Amino acid sequence: MLKLEKNSIKETFMNNLITYKSNQEKDFFEFKNISKFYKSGKINVVGLQNINLKISYGDFIVIGGISGSGKSTLLNLMGLIDQPDQGDIFIENKKINYNNDRLTTEIRKNKIGFIFQNFNLIPTLTVFENIEYSLLKSIKEIKRRHLIINQALEKVGILNLSKRYPEEISGGQQQRTSIARAFAKSPSIILADEPTANLDSGNGENILEIMKTMNIEERVTFVIATHDSSIMKMAKRKIIVSDGKIIKDTRI
Ligand SMILES: Nc1ncnc2c1ncn2[C@@H]1O[C@H](COP(=O)(O)OP(=O)(O)OP(=O)(O)O)[C@@H](O)[C@H]1O
Ligand SMILES: [Mg+2]
Repeated sequence: MLKLEKNSIKETFMNNLITYKSNQEKDFFEFKNISKFYKSGKINVVGLQNINLKISYGDFIVIGGISGSGKSTLLNLMGLIDQPDQGDIFIENKKINYNNDRLTTEIRKNKIGFIFQNFNLIPTLTVFENIEYSLLKSIKEIKRRHLIINQALEKVGILNLSKRYPEEISGGQQQRTSIARAFAKSPSIILADEPTANLDSGNGENILEIMKTMNIEERVTFVIATHDSSIMKMAKRKIIVSDGKIIKDTRI
């Protein structure tokens, strides 16, 4: 009996290890020859040029580069917020078809958490409602949804502000609302654009600690554009962009 139990524990462990390994080797994103241009009057501005990139599950990637180098453009394309002008994006080996709104919207809503550089909060909704709005379709049960929102707000230290509107809270508190919104979704991947830029060191450290735990324990993949040296230190892979090109891609 004991032997049987031991064997089944061993079997479960081996199965988990196999699933873990196969997920680890699976690519979440693939960019094939991606370019993005912006128009500024009559001038074409380069956002990104010929980017080829693969991102695997469970990674912790930091994107560095000077202002205007293309970090936000890269994250916006990964988050399916914006479309490339050239090339294809694959998510879990499926080519993104921007005309097929349903699938693209589903991936964006359920698999990707996005922490925006400018927070992107809805001004007419409270802190609590801003988070609830993004969960309405994925968590139908109200009690569970409210519990998850409160837990996310508590994690980032703004539970006491849940009834305030974005204009009634500070920039750092708005940033934490945007972070809580991404955490609450329990996404497979979190894309974060300068997530600690408006935070004091204590709050910044708290957020980084949460991200580290999510990456290790829940295997959430992180891609973070930042200049923050504490985040740089946490990176498993560093990608540097310059003039819309990847000039360095190193695994640490
Ligand atoms: N909507 C837009 N219209 C015109 N040009 C744009 C637009 N958005 C970005 N750009 C240009 O594309 C390039 C890349 O911009 P991007 O926002 O990706 O840079 P970034 O690395 O995120 O910069 P920062 O560190 O300042 O946030 C820049 O030259 C920028 O001026
Ligand atoms: Mg940016």
